[in-house]
Amino acid sequence: MKAIRLRHPAGIDNLRHEDMASPGDPGPGQIKVRIRASSLNYHDYIVVVGGIPTPDGRIPMSDGAGDVLAVGEGVTEFKVGDAVVSTFFPNWLDGLPSMGGFASVPGDGADGYAVEEVIAPVTSFTHAPVGYSHAESATLTCAGLTAWRALVTEGQLKAGDVVLVQGTGGVSIFALQFAKAMGATVIATSSSDAKLERLKAMGADHLINYKTTPGWGGEAMRITGGRGVDHIVEIGGAGTLPESITATTIGGHISLIGVLAGFAGPVPTVQLMGKQIRLIGITVGTRRQQQDMIRAINQNGIKPVIDSHFPLAELGAAFRHQESAKHFGKICVDI
Ligand SMILES: NC(=O)c1ccc[n+]([C@@H]2O[C@H](COP(=O)([O-])OP(=O)(O)OC[C@H]3O[C@@H](n4cnc5c(N)ncnc54)[C@H](OP(=O)(O)O)[C@@H]3O)[C@@H](O)[C@H]2O)c1
Repeated sequence: MKAIRLRHPAGIDNLRHEDMASPGDPGPGQIKVRIRASSLNYHDYIVVVGGIPTPDGRIPMSDGAGDVLAVGEGVTEFKVGDAVVSTFFPNWLDGLPSMGGFASVPGDGADGYAVEEVIAPVTSFTHAPVGYSHAESATLTCAGLTAWRALVTEGQLKAGDVVLVQGTGGVSIFALQFAKAMGATVIATSSSDAKLERLKAMGADHLINYKTTPGWGGEAMRITGGRGVDHIVEIGGAGTLPESITATTIGGHISLIGVLAGFAGPVPTVQLMGKQIRLIGITVGTRRQQQDMIRAINQNGIKPVIDSHFPLAELGAAFRHQESAKHFGKICVDI
């Protein structure tokens, strides 16, 4: 079978399409899965360009979806032929965060899903949504679940709330979709007017170009009549957090998710405290939250926005496309 391995020194040009032995038969409590799709996340990009060191030959990609080929002894949750999607933290099943970092995460601390077949414990997968293609399912592991956890688990989102989403990457577009499905008003930002029009077509209620309106926090305040927004899915990090704090209502919530606008920086702590904002750092979510999200998707019919598909052998070209920031939604890999 084929796999992509990241050879040293890490870099997009050192993603190698290599032959590999098929993994054999699943043991007790394990399943064997024919991986059919993956999708790109910023985290995968950082691994591939060497921003997070990994051993020579690491198989990248945290997201994987496919069909169950065989089940090991004692497995009752899955049967041969089931469509499944991988979990970001195979060992964090439920409850409060029990781990930090990426030591167990496929494509980082462990081999990931840029590969045709894997054998893994049942906790490495959940059932996929009904009627989803494998590529659609593969968008859920990281981007979908992060948006879900931010708004539903941590935000306790309710109809009528105002949500602000930043840019048009994977997490933000899922956040827009979940927020609209749950009856929220959405303020969406982008650096591109053309992309803003696409967000509007998807249901975004208010649009702000964060390049031409660098004080977008104040603009969100103006849009909400001086009240501010209830939830922000903060994918920029250091460079965007001050505007997010400006945009947030008293008692509002910010889920700090991303680092696209920097890794560290000054925070207006007085404003944060004075507004009694709940600021929480989150890293994806639990297997239970993934099952909850998929149950909701089976009910609300949300489909991921897929920007493009690349074959496994062209994973490097997929990362170049991500690097260009021309994408809208998820970049998928067919395996
Ligand atoms: N903590 C977690 O659990 C978790 C999970 C998933 C992702 N993340 C993080 O979340 C971030 C987004 O990930 P992703 O996979 O969704 O990335 P992505 O698909 O590559 O998103 C890139 C998009 O983000 C937008 N963007 C970039 N800089 C921005 C800024 N300063 N302000 C507003 N929007 C900006 C741009 O949208 P426009 O082109 O429209 O301007 C860009 O196209 C990354 O930092 C990633 O590491 C964290």
